[in-house]
Amino acid sequence: MRNLMITGGAGFIGSNFARHLLERYPGYRVVVYDKLTYAGNLDNLKDVEEAFGDRYAFVRGDICDAQPVRRTIQEHDVDTIVNFAAETHVDRSIMEPDAFVKTDVYGTYTLLEAAREFDLERYHQVSTDEIYGHVPEGSSKETDPIVPRSPYSASKAGADLMVHAYHITYGVPVTITRGANNIGPYQYPEKVVPLFVTNAIDDQPLPLYGDGLQVRDYHYVLDHCEAIDLVLHQGEVGGAYNVGTGTEMTNLAMTRMLLRLLGKPESLIQPVRDRAGHDRRYSLDIGRIRALGWEPTHSCEEAIEKTVRWYVDNAWWWRPIKSGEHYQEYYRKQYAGRELEGPSATGNKREA
Ligand code: NAD
Ligand code: TYD
Repeated sequence: MRNLMITGGAGFIGSNFARHLLERYPGYRVVVYDKLTYAGNLDNLKDVEEAFGDRYAFVRGDICDAQPVRRTIQEHDVDTIVNFAAETHVDRSIMEPDAFVKTDVYGTYTLLEAAREFDLERYHQVSTDEIYGHVPEGSSKETDPIVPRSPYSASKAGADLMVHAYHITYGVPVTITRGANNIGPYQYPEKVVPLFVTNAIDDQPLPLYGDGLQVRDYHYVLDHCEAIDLVLHQGEVGGAYNVGTGTEMTNLAMTRMLLRLLGKPESLIQPVRDRAGHDRRYSLDIGRIRALGWEPTHSCEEAIEKTVRWYVDNAWWWRPIKSGEHYQEYYRKQYAGRELEGPSATGNKREA
């Protein structure tokens, strides 16, 4: 492994991963291949370009377009693809599923075809815990059935299954990681933690869905990057690995914690109509990746604390996004008229 193509590397996790790889492996070269959708942002890679310009390149392109994918592999002598490129936000997938099917399913197929044609050393798929669907009790193992319930998770499940099929059918050397909710630097402020932190900084309401008692495993993005790195180098070819802290937190508890860290009142919590088909709980069994020697180094609480601090210190990054026309229009479409009756501090009365 020497020349890695990081698809979707201008997004949240991909940019953290590109930085991680270049820092950790002085012999590696990285080409980020990214369409730069609303979620892609070259500001995420500014410091990477400055620090590693001789080992880093950027190509703007769509993973659904076979020719530029092939050209990039040839020009950069790529031996490994790590695929982060996807449409990633559940609420957008409910409003407009089209791009999810195209990018997450067809785009993954295009990359797999290229991996096959060029006989790449490895194709790694960045998948998600959401493919297991709502988990009423216990924790999902990698061998559990895949029962996605949103257009986003169904598209990601399709991709995950296609990756598996390319390994079985054509012998493409694949690995898969299925991550829980990542948080940390450079996460687009549509996802709940950066949305709530930045709204709270500006004393704006935090739109909490339903009763706020949905359960997630909020884990730190750099822990996820370490896990992908480990699976790339030491994972079983053809294998899938769950990645998270293996613990749980309600959205209400997460919200209260970040308000406390920011010194803001709970009256900012605004209950809003729930998401359609909202998965109430995700929970991952992380025994398999632990057995490979990986441990999360941040708890959910530590991940939230670090994330809050980053957004407080890096308003230069998120203010232009939030004041932009695309974001403002999305926000109106997503949240206007969605408020539920009752005092905005309803959250105070509930148990986390
Ligand atoms: P993100 O939305 O921040 O970034 C996605 C990136 O993909 C953007 O840079 C975008 O421009 C690019 N992209 C989108 N469509 C493309 C296309 N057709 N061709 C090329 N590039 C395209 O997403 P993220 O949160 O960094 O997630 C990265 C990956 O990790 C995704 O595959 C996601 O499903 C998976 N994942 C995310 C989480 C999470 O909590 N964020 C958890 C588990 C797995
Ligand atoms: P999100 O960050 O969209 O990730 P995912 O749905 O992929 O887990 O949402 C995390 C949780 O926060 C989820 O239970 C939905 C909830 N949520 C809100 O309560 N309000 C919001 O405005 C958003 C975006 C999410």
